[in-house]
Amino acid sequence: MTCSIAPGKIILFGEHFVVKGAPAIGFAVSKHAKVCVEKGDFQVVSEQAGRIEQGSVLYRAVTRLIASASSIFGCSKDVRILIDSEIPIGSGMGSSAALSVALAHAYLTHCGASFDKELVNKLAYEAEKEVHSKPSGIDNTLATYGGFLKYKSGVFEKLEIRLGDEVDFLVVNTKMKRQTGRIVEKVLKLYEKYPEILVNVYTAASVLVEKALDSLKGKDYESIGRLMLLNHGLLWTIGVSHEVNDLIVHKLVGKGCYGAKLSGAGRGGIVVGLVSKSLSTRIEEELRGEGLEVFRVTPDYEGVRSV
Ligand code: PMV
Repeated sequence: MTCSIAPGKIILFGEHFVVKGAPAIGFAVSKHAKVCVEKGDFQVVSEQAGRIEQGSVLYRAVTRLIASASSIFGCSKDVRILIDSEIPIGSGMGSSAALSVALAHAYLTHCGASFDKELVNKLAYEAEKEVHSKPSGIDNTLATYGGFLKYKSGVFEKLEIRLGDEVDFLVVNTKMKRQTGRIVEKVLKLYEKYPEILVNVYTAASVLVEKALDSLKGKDYESIGRLMLLNHGLLWTIGVSHEVNDLIVHKLVGKGCYGAKLSGAGRGGIVVGLVSKSLSTRIEEELRGEGLEVFRVTPDYEGVRSV
């Protein structure tokens, strides 16, 4: 049996503004999807959801990926696929992309094929098109290469950023599901209605991302936190926050995080906070005590790999 893991992701700065050409920054996180492949009658089994039905989106994405990969290398499609993921589904943490990336890597390894990460990323991106109507490609790219990425108008740039061991990110899952496409549409409508106002908000978001790059490179946690809050404010301005997101941001900052913001499409989803490691366990326990789903992550600098 061959197994691979690939990380989920968090957008740290610039979501939504990126849709109209502003830059954004995302990073791969220490929550992974694991996929194992072994010889056998074709089937897809998930540790969390059991045997995957033939008509489902996940099944279609998996079969599409296996068909493409097997046609390149002439490998057998008679494989049993076992999935085990610790990434929350539908919360903007790139669970489907991590799964596709881990699957491509595990299957190509199982085949004995000679391949590189570029191929893994490409195969996963094609599979992502079964899951999301217009994937930007950020999720599969981060799951493949790990680390921090800047992306702008479809161009990805790997960033030489390494944070120290002295900080953690706290992720609070609001468990409020939403459709990214709908929220994006509403934001674009708002822009159409008030272009002369919104253009300034988008410019602010672009400048903010450039400042954030400097702060991340310099490991200036106070500044990163302050910019996360500013970014949350801009996201609130374009209508993608929710009182639940705002409340969690206030809680995280009130308890000592450097900063916090919603991450991804918004209107629920996840909130991420940056926190000193000396405080993270206490804050995590307190929030869990208040009934919230919360976990700690650190950046995954490696991306997809065999395990
Ligand atoms: O929550 P997610 O990971 O689906 O993030 C959506 C990010 C947006 O900027 C809102 C949309 C996009 O395609 O970039």
